[in-house]
Amino acid sequence: MGIAREILLRGSRSEWLASQLTRRRFTRHAVERFMPGEDAASAIDASESLRPKGIGTILTLLGENITHSAEADSVTQHYLDVLNRVSELSLDTDISIKPTQLGLDLDFDQTLCRYQTIISRAAGLGRFVAIDMEDSSYVDRTIELYRRLRADHDNVALCLQAYLHRTAADLATLLQLAPVIRLVKGAYNEPHNVAYRRKKDVDASFLRLADVLIEQASRANGTRAIFGTHDPRMIAAVCRRAEAIGLPREAYEFQMLYGIRREAQLRLAEDGYAMRVLISYGESWFPWFMRRLAERPANVMFLVRNLVRG
Ligand code: FDA
Repeated sequence: MGIAREILLRGSRSEWLASQLTRRRFTRHAVERFMPGEDAASAIDASESLRPKGIGTILTLLGENITHSAEADSVTQHYLDVLNRVSELSLDTDISIKPTQLGLDLDFDQTLCRYQTIISRAAGLGRFVAIDMEDSSYVDRTIELYRRLRADHDNVALCLQAYLHRTAADLATLLQLAPVIRLVKGAYNEPHNVAYRRKKDVDASFLRLADVLIEQASRANGTRAIFGTHDPRMIAAVCRRAEAIGLPREAYEFQMLYGIRREAQLRLAEDGYAMRVLISYGESWFPWFMRRLAERPANVMFLVRNLVRG
């Protein structure tokens, strides 16, 4: 793993750095590239502007590792309000939530209960709720959340990370549930014994897992494959493999982050692929922003250019 990536990922956990950088105007400028605004209304506006292009969205309120259950309750209420609002506007918009934002550090059962509340409301409104995957210390509990939620709901998706050595085995057992899986490479700083650290190994793992998902999705048994990646190589390989086994374009989905490879997003939607953009919003954007910088050195240069411009 690159030294720059390691430093940025460590920095993402620094409260001191967060308090220093979030106040600076140049950081805020750079953040705007990836985030239409700090409130849900901006994310909803951005969803409206993507609608005519045939691109759906997923909204996510930034914030993780909350420390009081009242905070998790208010996040729950926030998502219920967002679901109502996007339904009133008939937007093709789902939501995605980090388990620790609903209190996983505090209490498993209450976290499950909050997801149940949100997913039940979303089901009534014909929308999906995705469970994000955080660092490796949360994987067991997050998969357990998914198992319990999937038992009662069809409209729940789980994110799995290709960089983890364990993911192939996790996916194999999850397949019994006819799951909806968003496969990503993985964004956290994990040790060698837990995760592949070389890009080529992560990519190879992503493609192996993608093969399994595409094959399962082609059985029309309820398994749905979602690929959360900006990587042109991964996307081309997924399209080729799906085409080779006759899986129609609308039967699987690509997801990218707001502001990243916009032209590719448009092209995929125009070519008839299911395409969704994940839009983050909220005030707690520092750790998330640092993970975006770590993903791509060019993003750091973008920050530096903003620093120079003031
Ligand atoms: P990677 O970073 O390996 O880059 C490969 C290539 O993609 C680059 O060479 C370039 O061509 C292109 N590319 C990548 N970033 C670009 C950029 N900023 N601008 C232009 N081109 C770029 N992670 C996690 O741990 N848990 C989660 O729950 C989620 N959820 C999630 C949802 C969605 C919808 C997405 C898109 C991503 C996530 N992630 C995530 C993040 C994910 O794990 C990963 O860190 C990023 O997607 C970056 O990896 P890529 O696959 O995009 O390619």
